Amino acid sequence: MIILGIETSCDETSAALVRDGKIILSNVVATSLQEHQKFGGVIPEIASRRQLEYINIVTAQALKTAGLRLQDIDAVAVTLQPGLMGSLLVGISFANALSYMLQKPLIKVNHIQAHIYANYLLNKKDAALIDSVWDELKLPAIGLVVSGGHSSLFYIKDFLNYRLIGQTRDDAPGEAYDKVARILGLGYPGGPVIDRLARGVSDNKIVFPSSAMKGSHDFSFSGLKTAVLYYIQKHQKTPDFSVDHVAGAFQDSVVRILVEKSLNACHARKVKTLLIGGGVAANSALRDSLRTRGEAEEIRVSFPSMALCMDNAAMIAGLGYHLATKQAFTRV
Ligand code: KG4
Ligand code: ZN
Repeated sequence: MIILGIETSCDETSAALVRDGKIILSNVVATSLQEHQKFGGVIPEIASRRQLEYINIVTAQALKTAGLRLQDIDAVAVTLQPGLMGSLLVGISFANALSYMLQKPLIKVNHIQAHIYANYLLNKKDAALIDSVWDELKLPAIGLVVSGGHSSLFYIKDFLNYRLIGQTRDDAPGEAYDKVARILGLGYPGGPVIDRLARGVSDNKIVFPSSAMKGSHDFSFSGLKTAVLYYIQKHQKTPDFSVDHVAGAFQDSVVRILVEKSLNACHARKVKTLLIGGGVAANSALRDSLRTRGEAEEIRVSFPSMALCMDNAAMIAGLGYHLATKQAFTRV
């Protein structure tokens, strides 16, 4: 079964073709990121205007790369929510029109759940490895989605059953990265640059607290952001002040709590598989720390490839396949 995925929830416009929920035949992503950078965050009106311009081109490119025609598609899957209202509307209207024109089902997919599903996808050139990936990542699993807008922990029984067991009570981790980078004058988005600076830091004397939210699987990052702000206000005029060390200590605090909370959730639910997803899953310290700790605690930890951590339509088409096979068809 070939599914065309469409994703337009934030500043990306993406179309992908995925076979049987496993093999990516094409995954084209266009972004308006550069236009938002001077504002320090995504401007919804600019994002949706660009998505209107890009969506046809990106879809045509995805078909061309996969060597397929529109008639070869069995269903269209689209991000329903969450996301920016105007942006979602572009993708949903486009997918709905295509589904009507082709007389093929339209499948509505949750963006956050799809981020986790990215762990189960491989590119066509790696297709020979797909059975071992699926054997390795047996459900049930704990899923951690960490992105610019979300921080959620799920208990996943099967792909149609994601139970939310914890979430952020305030900022998402990516949002905290972006805000701290802004305070430090590092530009937008903050994650990649803080990740890079933190990698060069050793022997850091600064320690920021991590909010444990004891007795719950929930997260909180706004206190950390405030602690960083106060630290900067107090120390930035001192000779020892180092942006890199502040960035490193901030990242240590975020990674510490994400590792602790996600492994705790695995132990609490007696689950041996931990699936990570979302933009912050690209973070090198989080990847290293979770892999090491997972090995020590006999939990299989999986991250998508870097490209599939970011917003993309392949993850939408992938999860859409499971909804399609369960006849979860709808027209928006
Ligand atoms: O999943 P995503 O592309 O968009 C949302 O659905 O929100 O995530 C974007 C977020 C941004 O906040 C960005 O700063 C963060 O992911 N990010 C990172 C890294 N790369 C991107 N955060 C930490 N470390 C990174 N290497
Ligand atoms: Zn996302």
